[in-house]
Amino acid sequence: MSPTSRAGSPPEVGVLLPAAGQGERAGAGELKQFRPIRGVPMLLRAVRPFAQHPRVRQIVVALPPEFAARPPVWLKDLIGERLQVVAGGATRPESVAQALEHLHPACRIVLVHDAARPFVGGDTIDAVIAAAETGSGAVAAVPVGDTLKQVDAAGERVKETVDRRGLWRAQTPQGFPRALLEEAYARRGETGDVTDDAQLVERLGRAILVIRDHTTNIKVTTADDFVLAEALAAR
Ligand code: CTP
Ligand code: MG
Repeated sequence: MSPTSRAGSPPEVGVLLPAAGQGERAGAGELKQFRPIRGVPMLLRAVRPFAQHPRVRQIVVALPPEFAARPPVWLKDLIGERLQVVAGGATRPESVAQALEHLHPACRIVLVHDAARPFVGGDTIDAVIAAAETGSGAVAAVPVGDTLKQVDAAGERVKETVDRRGLWRAQTPQGFPRALLEEAYARRGETGDVTDDAQLVERLGRAILVIRDHTTNIKVTTADDFVLAEALAAR
């Protein structure tokens, strides 16, 4: 009998952590996901809140193939029944799809979280899990605070100001009933332009619930973002 079939026990949660990017916008040097933030590699900071979560049964980390074969020592120590490393693909959706293939059958709820978000809060994780348990998808998001400009292709001139009402920035984690995410990935086709998982589920016409997240759950994309990350880690 599987652990999920015990009466009354909540469904177990699996976490997919795409960490197989090349970090091109973060500049040269060590891959951004391995770069330390106040001494702790960013990927490790992204993994920890899930590793400490009582509902999380499994974490699957997608790494660039050369690192999946030889994971960094600080990650190697964590690899075991609860955390596995797989080789990612050329795009984020391919990396998520690879990780999804390795998900334990007991995981009925799946969270996807970028390795480039080292400051996710436990309250956000709880809320995303709870929303996914209702049968919908769920996305951590923040209402846009800045004034938004549509700019020409050259990035030189403002074309117009965009009304920001109702615009939210999608963050991670995003959570889904496993069957829903599997269907979305099975039908994904060519998805080079897709930057999050909710979008694939939206294409199926299924509801995505919004979980209001903290602005401190930043995505580290550029070298400047590491300056912010150092400050956040010092809090
Ligand atoms: N990612 C992945 N596999 C890829 C591309 C991206 O697993 N082929 C992961 C990244 O490692 C990151 C997350 O998806 O954790 C979000 O991607 P992004 O922030 O764009 O990271 P990179 O793709 O590495 O950066 P860049 O686009 O600047 O090269
Ligand atoms: Mg990228």
